[in-house]
Amino acid sequence: MSVLDVIRLRRSVRVYRPDPIPEEALQRVLEAARLAPSGKNLQPWKFVLVQDDRMKKKLAKACNQQAFIADAPLIIVACGFPDECYRAMGRYMRSWPVDVTIALEHLILQAQEEGLGTCWIGSFGEEEVKSLLNVPEHVKVLALTPLGYPGEDPQSRGRKPLEKIVSYDSF
Ligand SMILES: Cc1cc2nc3c(=O)[nH]c(=O)nc-3n(C[C@H](O)[C@H](O)[C@H](O)COP(=O)(O)O)c2cc1C
Repeated sequence: MSVLDVIRLRRSVRVYRPDPIPEEALQRVLEAARLAPSGKNLQPWKFVLVQDDRMKKKLAKACNQQAFIADAPLIIVACGFPDECYRAMGRYMRSWPVDVTIALEHLILQAQEEGLGTCWIGSFGEEEVKSLLNVPEHVKVLALTPLGYPGEDPQSRGRKPLEKIVSYDSF
C-alpha cells in the first residue's frame, strides 16, 4: 500500500479484539518507531510495552477511565528524555515532544499497514502512569496507544480543506 493510502485509511480505533499480535508484525511496528528521525539524531525515547491484564486495567484508569484501552492485547507507552534531546529547536524549545511524536506516528502508520489498530491517547495522568510503570523522575510520558486488531471500522472524522491550512510565500 502507498504511504498516502496508509495515512488515508488510519483511524483512531476504540474497540479491540483480544486476538494476539503476531511477533513479526509487532517487530515491524517497533522497527518503524526505531527508524524515526530526531533532533541531532539523539533518539530521546523509550517505549514501554504493557501486556499484563491487571496493569492494562490500571493504565486505562490512569487514562481518565478510558476502559477500551485495556481490551487491546498491548498498550504502548511512549516516553521521552528531556535531558537527552536537542535543546534549541527554533532557538526556543526542547525537541523531545516532537521527536517522540514522530516516532509514535511512524509506529502508528506501520500498525495500520499490518492491519492493526491504534488510538493516540493524550488524556492521561502522567504521575499515575509514571508511578504504575516505574518511569524515572527525569523521564516524561508523552502519549499511549493501545495496539491490536480492530473490533470496529470507524468512519473518517474529516479534515480541514488544504486551502485553509496552506499558504504560499506569506502566512
Ligand atoms: C494529541 C492527541 C490526543 C488524543 N487523545 C485521545 C484520547 O485521550 N482518547 C481518545 O479516544 N482519542 C484521543 N485522540 C484521538 C483523536 O480524537 C482523533 O485522532 C481525532 O478525533 C481524529 O480522528 P481519527 O484519528 O480517527 O482520524 C487524540 C489524538 C491526539 C492527536
